[in-house]
This record gives sequence, structure tokens and C-alpha cells, in this order.
Amino acid sequence: MTHRIALSRRDIFTAMAALGLGGLGPATLGARPARAQVPSGGSDRGLGEIARNAGRFYGCAVQASYLAKEPDFADAVVREAGVLVPEWELKWGAVEPQRGHFNFAPADAILAFAEQHGMTMRGHTLVWHRNIPAWAKTALEAQDRSLMGIHIKQVMNHFPTVQDWDVVNEVLDPGSTRPDKLRDSPFLTALGPRYIAQAFRYARGVAPQARLVYNDYGVEYELPTHKTKRDAMLRLLESLKREGAPIDAVGIQSHLVTRQGVTFDPASFSSFLKEIAGFGLKIIITELDVQDTDLPADDSVRDRVLADVIQRYVEAALAEPAVAGILTWGLSDRHTWLDTDPTAKRSDGLPSRPLPLDADLNRKPIWHALADAF
Ligand code: XIL
Repeated sequence: MTHRIALSRRDIFTAMAALGLGGLGPATLGARPARAQVPSGGSDRGLGEIARNAGRFYGCAVQASYLAKEPDFADAVVREAGVLVPEWELKWGAVEPQRGHFNFAPADAILAFAEQHGMTMRGHTLVWHRNIPAWAKTALEAQDRSLMGIHIKQVMNHFPTVQDWDVVNEVLDPGSTRPDKLRDSPFLTALGPRYIAQAFRYARGVAPQARLVYNDYGVEYELPTHKTKRDAMLRLLESLKREGAPIDAVGIQSHLVTRQGVTFDPASFSSFLKEIAGFGLKIIITELDVQDTDLPADDSVRDRVLADVIQRYVEAALAEPAVAGILTWGLSDRHTWLDTDPTAKRSDGLPSRPLPLDADLNRKPIWHALADAF
């Protein structure tokens, strides 16, 4: 079976032109050879191995319950991924719903699964304005200055073998009235603008060798808000470096869209990455997926367009040597947050198709786009 069945180039071009994705014309689409689809039980190389052979890494977000309850899904994860990220199990509300009452079991299970199969786990995420348990939110808003550091230490100390951490997540807001565009968050309220540098220092105190990452979204496109956020991010990185904060890498979430009027410019994105690399930082594509809200219902049309959107993006990213690896936010369309997020749900109610494998764990054109790009 090929992944380009019964689909004319004109169909794809028409769908893409309607979305303002005209930069990818039929010539580009025609340039990629059709390739036999490998059945899910195939023994050939997975994305993790392909990436590793190219000096990069590939991994995906998972939930512990999928690994425990779905052996076919767990097998696919073993086949494809080199790195696992807990999708929610390490968020503050999940690990410490009540003060001092910890629930590390689900994240422990992901780590055990990863280590059993020769993979690593990344920690996601220590300091985030969302998913703060009510007790901690109240304390931070009452300006408890010690809580953030205690939290970072407690979580990181539980996972001494985890060597890659999203220390702060989504700390910028282009809509902020502050000149530095720092997001209004309970951490900013409690500790002031230097909380980000402090978070990195606490993390370094626990894990002298770990890769410490600042992760954020909304810098991928040529939108005014994205440009504002790119500028703010570069200024934030400059100030973190200036004061010697122990930051190692920037994570760019990369939740891509196929909405009309949203333009991706590889040259502009590359020069943004180059500026980040210029601070001596690595870059990770941390949460790649792609919304298909505005695409036609036909699976093969959607899959082709989505793969081209991903290919264009990851080729620009991987052209930058500082990009260490790519993580997708999920592996199979069977489990994607986009089907639960109201802004990402399709109006026709069809499940979205944002990930490398379909719901039956077969490799889709997105898988091939990633493999080709690596
Ligand atoms: C999302 C998860 O995928 C959902 O299951 C959860 O309900 C909300 O969080 N940016 C991030 C991720 O950094 O943690 C978010 O994950 C998606 C957006």
C-alpha cells in the first residue's frame, strides 16, 4: 500500500492554495517519491534510530495509562521513540495535589518503561502557570517566596536519572503590558521577574549535569504576536545569559496549524533559531503536532497536506545544527490532545490526524516526512 493513493496532485494543490500554503506547489509535492508503507509490526528502523543515526534524537509524549493498558501502543512506542515525555504526569497538580502528598507513581511507571527499553525520559515541566494545585496557587499569590524552589527540588530529587528538564514553561505572553512581556503568573507575583533565573539555579543545584530547558510556544509563524514573542524571547535569553543563569537549551513547542493567513517562512524561522544558537544554547522541538481544523475531510488529502507542512517546518529546524532533536506531542492519532482541545477540534467532528502514526499505528506521511528530514 502506498500513502499517496487515489489522490491527484491537483487535489492537494487546491486544498493547500485555499489555505494560503501556496509556497508548496505541485512541483514540491511531486518531488517526493511514493514509498511503500511499512506495516506496524515491521522490523525496519524506527524514527528514534533514524534520528540517532543522524546525530539527533526523536521521542514523543505519552501517558502512563496508554503504556499500561495498550500493548500494541506500547510496542509502537518502543519501536519508534528514543525519548519519552510524560504528557501530564509530572505537572505540579499531578505530582502534589495536596501539600506534601506526592503521587509520583505514574511518572515512575513511564521512567521504568523507558529504562527497560533503552530509552530516556525528559522531565516536563517544573514551573508552569497552568496546572498549579489550588493550595500552591494560594500560597504563591500570598507571595510565598520559598515554594517554587522547594517544588523544583522535590520533583527533581525524585528522578536522579532524568537528565533533561523543562525548567520553565510558557513564561512569555505577547499580550502582556510589561515591556519584557513576562506572563502574568503566580510565580511572577510571588518572586518578581527574576524567578526564571532563580528556577534555573535551583534546578542546577539538584542536577549539575542535566540539560536545563526553557520551553515556549507561539514563535513559529510570521504573525505579529509571534514576532513580538520572538523578540521578547531573545531579550529574555540575553538577560539570563548576562546574569549567568544556568540555562542550556530552548524548547520550541511547535504546535503547527493549517489556518488561512498563517504563514511559515523558513528563512525567518532559521534566522530566529540562529540567534538562539548564538547564545550558546541548544534547541529542541518539544511538542510537534499539526492541527487540521481547516482541511477537507478526506484522510489522504489531509495526510498529504499535513506531512508537507511538517516537512517544511522540520527541514528548516534541522538545518540549524543547534537543534538537538524533535519530540512529537503524542505518537499515534489514537491519542492526541487536539481532539479534546475546543480550539483544535474539527467542526465536522472527525478525529484529527496530527501525528506520525494513524489510530491503528500504521505509519502515515507525517512519519515519512520526519524520517526524510532526519
Ligand atoms: C497538554 C496535554 O497534552 C493535555 O493532555 C493536558 O490536558 C493539558 O496539557 N503545552 C504544553 C503541554 O507545554 O504541557 C500541554 O499538554 C500542551 C501545550
